[in-house]
Amino acid sequence: MELKGKNVFVTGSTRGIGKAVAQAFAKAGANVALNGRGEISSDQISELESFGVKCIGVSGDIANFESAGEMIQAVVDGLGSIDILINNAGITNDKLMLRMSEEDFTRCIQINLTGTFNMTQHAIKRMMKQRSGTIINMSSVSGLIGNIGQANYAASKAGVIGFTKSVAREVAARGITCNAIAPGFIETEMTEVLSDKVKEQMNQQIPLQTFGQVEDIANAAIFLASSPYITGQVLNVDGGLVMHG
Ligand SMILES: NC(=O)c1ccc[n+]([C@@H]2O[C@H](COP(=O)([O-])OP(=O)(O)OC[C@H]3O[C@@H](n4cnc5c(N)ncnc54)[C@H](OP(=O)(O)O)[C@@H]3O)[C@@H](O)[C@H]2O)c1
Repeated sequence: MELKGKNVFVTGSTRGIGKAVAQAFAKAGANVALNGRGEISSDQISELESFGVKCIGVSGDIANFESAGEMIQAVVDGLGSIDILINNAGITNDKLMLRMSEEDFTRCIQINLTGTFNMTQHAIKRMMKQRSGTIINMSSVSGLIGNIGQANYAASKAGVIGFTKSVAREVAARGITCNAIAPGFIETEMTEVLSDKVKEQMNQQIPLQTFGQVEDIANAAIFLASSPYITGQVLNVDGGLVMHG
């Protein structure tokens, strides 16, 4: 599928994976709406506009249902429609189960899982009317195999996978696809906090023996958005960390 001229909204695109995804879509000729909870810098907007596409900043918290509706409306007002929604914004809040408070647990679920629901629910109404659309949700290998200290995060990301498959089934007949990407360990601010010892231990478990780069995830997002016959799938981009039989 041609991405040139499509309108894409990437949540959590002020840094890390989302920023690289937004850049890759702009390079492919898509108009981009950037998002984060704070103000979107004019430098970041001009950087994407230099690819000859439209770019707007849409600030807001995905965890808030009303804000989610306002953000989707802002994308439609600013770009004309929403063709591709990339639910990328997410947080970690790692703690061992015994030390994890109810607030630690629900905050992760509220942003990573409910936030994905909020954005999709508002976007899908538009996509159903236009009888086309692409949704890509950022899950994680933690949602597939779990991870020590991430009961909250892994639960939210496993939830994203069930959500993705259900939505894919519901909207396929309207020409809308819905897939997930499960990144492994990718070099961003989210993984920067890990100690060198933990990073070394992780590397030993990864068959390709190295952390991934944000561009690896951006390439996967471009591939899924260009592939209208793929839906309900989880694409692992993890150096071989998780291999299904
Ligand atoms: N890095 C990895 O190794 C890895 C592995 C597996 C999965 N992932 C997933 O990939 C996604 C991106 O990760 P990353 O490493 O790029 O994270 P990051 O560097 O921490 O960036 C997160 C982005 O999300 C935004 N954000 C956070 N909460 C938000 C909210 N409630 N509403 C709107 N925006 C919000 C942040 O902006 P503000 O703070 O300005 O709001 C920021 O732009 C996440 O879903 C993460 O779980 C990452």
